[in-house]
Amino acid sequence: MMNWLWTAGLMILLLTSLQVSAQQVKPGEGTSRFSLDEGWLFHLGDIPFAPLLGHGASYMASKAGIAPGAAAVDYDDSQWLSLNLPHDWAIEQPVDSTENISQGYHKRGFGWYRRRFKLDTADKGKNLELQFEGIATHATIWVNGQVVYRSWSAYNAFYIDITAIARYGEDVNTIAVKVDANAMEGWWYEGAGIYRHTWLVKRSPVHIVTDGVFAHPVLLSAAGDQTPASETTNLAHDNWCIPAEITIANTGKQKASPHINISLYNRHHQLVTTADTVATVNALEQTTVKLNLSVTNPLRWTLEDPALYTVVTKLQSNNDNDEVITRCGFRTIRFDADSGFYLNNKRVKIKGVCNHIDHAGVGTAVPDALWDFRMQKIKEMGANAYRCAHNAPASRILDLCDSLGILVMDENRNFNTSPEYLAQLAWLVKRDRNHPSVILWSVFNEEPIQGTETGYEMVRRLSKQVKIRDTTRPVTAAMNGGFFSEINVSQAVDVVGFNYEIKHYDRFHALNPRKPVTSSEDASGVMVRGEYYTNTVKHILDAYDTQAPSWGATHRKAWKLIDERPWMAGAFVWTGFDYHGEPTPFRWPTVSSNFGILDLCGFPKTAFYLRQALWIKDKPILHIAPHWNFPKDSIGKPVKVMVISNAEKVKLLLNGKTIGEQQNDPYNMVSWQVPYKPGKLEAIGFRNGKQVSRFQVQTTGAPVRLRLTPFRPALDNSGTDATPVTVEALDANGRHVPDANLPVSFNTSNAGRIIGLGNGNPNSHEPEKGNHQSLFNGFAQVIVQPLKGETTNLVLEATAPGLEPATLSIPLQQVAAQPSLPASASILTLDKWRMSPVFNTRPNPAMALSDNDMNSWMATQPGKLQEATSSGYVIYRAAFTPYAAQQEMGGNIYLKPINGDVEIWINDKKIAEQTVSPVAKEIKIPFPVGKTHTINILVKQEKGTYTGLNGPVIVAE
Ligand code: GAL
Repeated sequence: MMNWLWTAGLMILLLTSLQVSAQQVKPGEGTSRFSLDEGWLFHLGDIPFAPLLGHGASYMASKAGIAPGAAAVDYDDSQWLSLNLPHDWAIEQPVDSTENISQGYHKRGFGWYRRRFKLDTADKGKNLELQFEGIATHATIWVNGQVVYRSWSAYNAFYIDITAIARYGEDVNTIAVKVDANAMEGWWYEGAGIYRHTWLVKRSPVHIVTDGVFAHPVLLSAAGDQTPASETTNLAHDNWCIPAEITIANTGKQKASPHINISLYNRHHQLVTTADTVATVNALEQTTVKLNLSVTNPLRWTLEDPALYTVVTKLQSNNDNDEVITRCGFRTIRFDADSGFYLNNKRVKIKGVCNHIDHAGVGTAVPDALWDFRMQKIKEMGANAYRCAHNAPASRILDLCDSLGILVMDENRNFNTSPEYLAQLAWLVKRDRNHPSVILWSVFNEEPIQGTETGYEMVRRLSKQVKIRDTTRPVTAAMNGGFFSEINVSQAVDVVGFNYEIKHYDRFHALNPRKPVTSSEDASGVMVRGEYYTNTVKHILDAYDTQAPSWGATHRKAWKLIDERPWMAGAFVWTGFDYHGEPTPFRWPTVSSNFGILDLCGFPKTAFYLRQALWIKDKPILHIAPHWNFPKDSIGKPVKVMVISNAEKVKLLLNGKTIGEQQNDPYNMVSWQVPYKPGKLEAIGFRNGKQVSRFQVQTTGAPVRLRLTPFRPALDNSGTDATPVTVEALDANGRHVPDANLPVSFNTSNAGRIIGLGNGNPNSHEPEKGNHQSLFNGFAQVIVQPLKGETTNLVLEATAPGLEPATLSIPLQQVAAQPSLPASASILTLDKWRMSPVFNTRPNPAMALSDNDMNSWMATQPGKLQEATSSGYVIYRAAFTPYAAQQEMGGNIYLKPINGDVEIWINDKKIAEQTVSPVAKEIKIPFPVGKTHTINILVKQEKGTYTGLNGPVIVAE
């Protein structure tokens, strides 16, 4: 039965199912989206607005387009630093013990950004939307001197319609952004500044709104209706539908009836099915149309083979057209109270990792290419799930989870039911609901009121916000208490999230046997990569998985508790990667976390191999902790050796002699105390009596040379690509020296630059910018980025005193750069003019205008010529403050040709005169040294002629 409500505007419906045609489609972004990431100007620190004292100034300051100070169009930003986004200024600051511990002791403060751009006159009439994907933390945005947005979230994107206030042709648009990064939204490192992408989207007036296509497949129920079916073994068919919702806006002047087409393509770009309708949308209104696509026997999205389909949604209406490309996946999900999580009706234990959003060297300004690296590492450790702790992720993360087959718990930042925060959650769901990887919406993390009726009532409301937009995924909340209160949050969610609280797992399940449960956060095991002795004075934690804070558990204990409970859907380990800040269990001088399975750079700690052994079933895992490079005075002394494996039995040999053989404990692993003797320590894994794996560590010689290994051997020259490069020291036999701790310096050729460095040492205070970094326990990382358009190889050189240097040459593939809007130069434009009434007789051209007279002279903007309604004299007047350089040296004003007899006066002095109209292509008027000036232009106009200031007035050298 079709259970569908058609909107009034829906007139025709054409449905073609399972038709395969030669029509090809490539997934990608619409061509109307232009990057604004290049060419921002930045000022570190606040630029407070001058106090308003006079009445006239107060009156004018409250008017549209007349923002003060650094928000104003005419502000002098010529000395600001030029940079490209993404940008995090906090990571550029040295660590400082007086700064906030949670933010990794990095100073944050205030910052300002400005950017200019031009729009074609042909863009006039188009819908123009400015998009910011993330600014940390509070931000105010002005466009052309008008405040257009105030953002109270460091993690949520926002979209600003600037159609009404955009300037075209030679007239420059100015964006100003004030960022308050003293504001904090979390207890972890949050970065500072515009740390995600920025875009300008040009669309036809009738268009599909941003995040306006919801096209997520659902399996039909046994009865064939569109209620999302919980797939169980007895469902006989494989019939699906995509109940698509498309939201259309019209910023044009007329009512429109666009034709809407939605088409589904498989991974071979073949058309699977398509549907059409006609919508009706009034001027300055939005409407949502619904269309249904039917699909039978699709290729499923699985963790092993995450098949993605492409949805192309097209809009056409007279001259208007728009296209949006989204992706989707056919999969069912189900949480069962007895047996956990099911993907496509197959039980999958959730092996998840929680992660924050920063990386060594770059802080939160993580280039897209670095997310690829991070996700690969997560996959490599055997994880199958990712928790976006505790905020909206970069959209790249979800795209990667879709294409790599990683499940996602997508999390809201603030637990708050006020309109501002409900809107934040609504945005998250709207942006992310097409991703097949997303399986859970999390509405909070660890809230003190989780065991109260207030908490319960708030979650009910947040859950409703989700369900209005997506009924196909359960809502959860990451609780760490309150589970047993009479009224508590667990009663308002679909799946209960346990953060730690392992002592309560069984009691909760016994009392709530019908409630699905997952651990939303666990372990919090702490260790430092490559360290094998704990020294609390030096803030060193051994990497044998021996330690966790009071609320947590070691990796081995935590997983055993999850794995042994079939009703527990799985767990999300705190954390996949280390992050800046939260240096638990220490304080200064430790500046980053110890929780990571991988360190801050993504180098594996022992926990990485432990997780592989615990999580990976289909291939042998074998590893030894520690390395075998101990000082001479350790000879003969016992060293703890842990063999990490998923084998049934393991054998350990030192220099060919058997140390022992043990039945493996699949959760705890096995250990020996081995008297240290340099040489070769080898482990052999057995299964069914057969050898299945071998691993060895060797005592190496002293470091003699460096080695550089990029994550990706070739990069592109788009200007946004990047790769981490592993830096190591090798001994004379080419072996990695695991205890090398020595300073390394780097240099790149002109084809690229270093965007950050790190070494994964949580106690390191070395700057993460520049070109020096020490190896920490054998490793350091340099992140390099090719410059836009470069064609020669990017060469990276590494040198260390006494060692043979290393050179890496990375070929650059030529690619078409992302469409972007070039940044216009910092030039003072005079856009605030007054125009006098028409005088019959020649007035004093330099006549003053009283400050509080807002009425007798009209405000005007240079641009279009106006038809003179009477003959006579008109004065155009502007006061201006030249940029600092011209205050000292004087400069020129550049005007477009003016019709009529003209006199130009600067500061009460006539500078130029014109009697033949118009005389020049451009009028250039010198002005003297000084802080402020006034320009008065006297024009003698004839009735019926076109007169005035024709185009932007520029002040320059
Ligand atoms: C949790 C919290 C995380 C992190 C972690 C450290 O309570 O949700 O954000 O602070 O503890 O163990």
